[in-house]
Amino acid sequence: MTRRKAMKVMAAGAVAASVTATMQPTFALAKRNIFEPVTIGNLKIKNRIFKAATSYDLSDHHGRPSQDWIDTYVEAAEGGPGMMVTDVTYVEFDDRPSHADLSIHDDSQIPAFKKAVDAIHKAGSKVCMQLGWAGSMTITGYRIKEREVWGPSKVQHPLTKVTPTKAISKEEIKHVVKTMADGALRAKKAGFDAIELHFCHNFMLSQFLTPYYNKRTDEYGGPIENRARLHFEITEAVRKAVGPDYPVLAKIHGRDYLEKNGMTIDEGLFFAKGLEKRGVTALEISGGNLVNGFDTMPWRGDLEDEPQNQTYFAADARKYSKTVKLPLILTGGNRRMEIMEKELNTNPHIVAFGLCRTLLSEPDLVNKWKEAPETHAQCVACNECIANYGQGPTVCVLN
Ligand SMILES: Cc1cc2nc3c(=O)[nH]c(=O)nc-3n(C[C@H](O)[C@H](O)[C@H](O)COP(=O)(O)O)c2cc1C
Ligand code: SF4
Repeated sequence: MTRRKAMKVMAAGAVAASVTATMQPTFALAKRNIFEPVTIGNLKIKNRIFKAATSYDLSDHHGRPSQDWIDTYVEAAEGGPGMMVTDVTYVEFDDRPSHADLSIHDDSQIPAFKKAVDAIHKAGSKVCMQLGWAGSMTITGYRIKEREVWGPSKVQHPLTKVTPTKAISKEEIKHVVKTMADGALRAKKAGFDAIELHFCHNFMLSQFLTPYYNKRTDEYGGPIENRARLHFEITEAVRKAVGPDYPVLAKIHGRDYLEKNGMTIDEGLFFAKGLEKRGVTALEISGGNLVNGFDTMPWRGDLEDEPQNQTYFAADARKYSKTVKLPLILTGGNRRMEIMEKELNTNPHIVAFGLCRTLLSEPDLVNKWKEAPETHAQCVACNECIANYGQGPTVCVLN
């Protein structure tokens, strides 16, 4: 979308929001509804809306949550979601793709995160730390010439144009596994209610799954059994570190919509089954890629005028429901209550919905929906928040 078109869409969306925000609900809440409590593993959550992981770029220079970060999350928690998933938090300090990304690379980080968790709990929400490795998914090019950039193979990232400085060795793969397990344990010690493994969106770990990025000829490349080996090792190590009952979520691609060199949906199903077997508690279904343009992105545009294009990974999630028993959190393009409620009552595996841009734009949207389910989200899916990523704290251009 061009900037001009984005501004046009944004203006139209703002008018629509102001008109509809005061309308009375005209549809009855269905049998399973968004505002009933839900249990995932042994974790009770007050409703079915998750604030999906959002990188706010608000850490201090140690990679710890700043007071601004805490204030942002408290405001979002007071806005009504049952669960807040954090920014992707890196487990290796030097892998951070921006100077303001969170990091939980050693125990000295724990007290600062504990302070943040306590504030979010006080604001009424559960909180889950998302953990990951960036590799070449480093939009800002932060310290790119001064550090190693890891990846499955030395393939240039189509969005960032960064090529990993090395295809990591098996020793380094072991280090990746260990850092993810250590990070998970630290998150648990800091009081997080759950952790989420970031296995999607063309970040380093998801690159292992996709032949486009993974050209390896060892046991971590080739067939899906090999391409998923690292994630299975991570899951086993994380489960061992945090114990049998702690909620461990994984955010994955239902499919990556790459016609050539992508991960097929059957491979995705194999992957999901493998995660289930190794003790993942729930799957968050995202998808898409950063290669083919807007229509196949995890964060698609032009959603408000075409409600049929919203909640756009629902069909993929239905396929997963036939293969895995795990609860599913469905993320991507959720912006109308009636569409989410319909899907909730169509697919019994769905337990919650993840929302990112709508809540970035309007942190109190969930409370508004509680009062008036027909409220239209203010966000117009222009993706300027992504386009401006790394140029300061992440904000919605409408605010
Ligand atoms: C500004 C911004 C930052 C994001 N940061 C993360 C992140 O740290 N981790 C992640 O898994 N997804 C991240 N996402 C993707 C969202 O979690 C979500 O999958 C995607 O935006 C689709 O949901 P939406 O239509 O509700 O925005 C980000 C998206 C945006 C717009
Ligand atoms: S949250 Fe992002 S996508 Fe939504 S209106 Fe604001 S800048 Fe645009």
